[in-house]
Amino acid sequence: MTVLGVDLGGTKCLGVALQDGEVVGEVRLPTPAGGDALLEVLSTVVDRLRGSSTPEAVGVGAPGLVDRDGVLHFAANLTLEGELDLRSALAERLGVPVQVDNDATCAAWGERAHGAARGFDDVVLVTLGTGIGGGIVVAGRVVRGANGFAGEMGHMVVDPQGPLCPCGQRGCWERFASGSGLGRLGREVARRGGAPRLVELAGGDPEQVRGEHVTLAVGEGDEAAVEVLVRFAWWLGLGLANLANIFDPEAFVVGGGVVGAGDALFTPARRAFAELLQGADRRPPISVLPAALGERAGAIGAAYLAAEAAGG
Ligand code: BGC
Repeated sequence: MTVLGVDLGGTKCLGVALQDGEVVGEVRLPTPAGGDALLEVLSTVVDRLRGSSTPEAVGVGAPGLVDRDGVLHFAANLTLEGELDLRSALAERLGVPVQVDNDATCAAWGERAHGAARGFDDVVLVTLGTGIGGGIVVAGRVVRGANGFAGEMGHMVVDPQGPLCPCGQRGCWERFASGSGLGRLGREVARRGGAPRLVELAGGDPEQVRGEHVTLAVGEGDEAAVEVLVRFAWWLGLGLANLANIFDPEAFVVGGGVVGAGDALFTPARRAFAELLQGADRRPPISVLPAALGERAGAIGAAYLAAEAAGG
């Protein structure tokens, strides 16, 4: 059985072809702005992936509120004028069954099928990218909620007086613990003159400091960057503690580019998590694990969810 999965990200659109569970092809294109352009790029990725053979199904992961009919209603980090009926529009263009889910829901399912969440029936995935995505597996099943909108952990408010979020609220968790949150924390220190190496990596302008500069400088052993990452890890631990109180998972799987920082991130994050978790020393430990599938997790999971929806 051949199924295709496409992850529509804030910056890139990444598709994979899966044949009997193995990745046999990959295509990536930049994500454009606007609904029609998004449909166009999704169709192009699918066309390039499928070559001459017709896949049984196509799965798409989209970064926002995707309802159970595959309509994208709202996406804080995409330029979208209104709602976008991704499933119908794509099914019509492609002539195959299309399944659309939230991007992080897809990533959670991908990690459970093939990655770090394998073997766990109760597991929560968080992806730290432009925003924070959340995917929830309870009793071995993906949780979508009444409308399909479950798992919007990035918009859990952790500081009501905090920075504005593109979603319109203040102090959402993703303002602190996403890849862009890491950049923001880095810029705060850089503006005060406390992180010369970060400013240097950003081409001399503190306003250009991004998350990648922080992780790069951490790799070089820069102390100021390590401090920024430890603050970031505290925010990550705080959110995970809140989620653990709600879901009581066996494990968390954490994905996104910043996971490349390894122990420099995971050691302080696990420490903060243990400090902030209710009754931490009276309950079985909850593992906090790095994701295993990297940037392909969402596309792989989207393909699996599409295969399941198509009865495969
Ligand atoms: C969106 C989520 C999405 C996440 C990661 C958040 O801002 O609200 O739906 O999963 O970003 O893309």
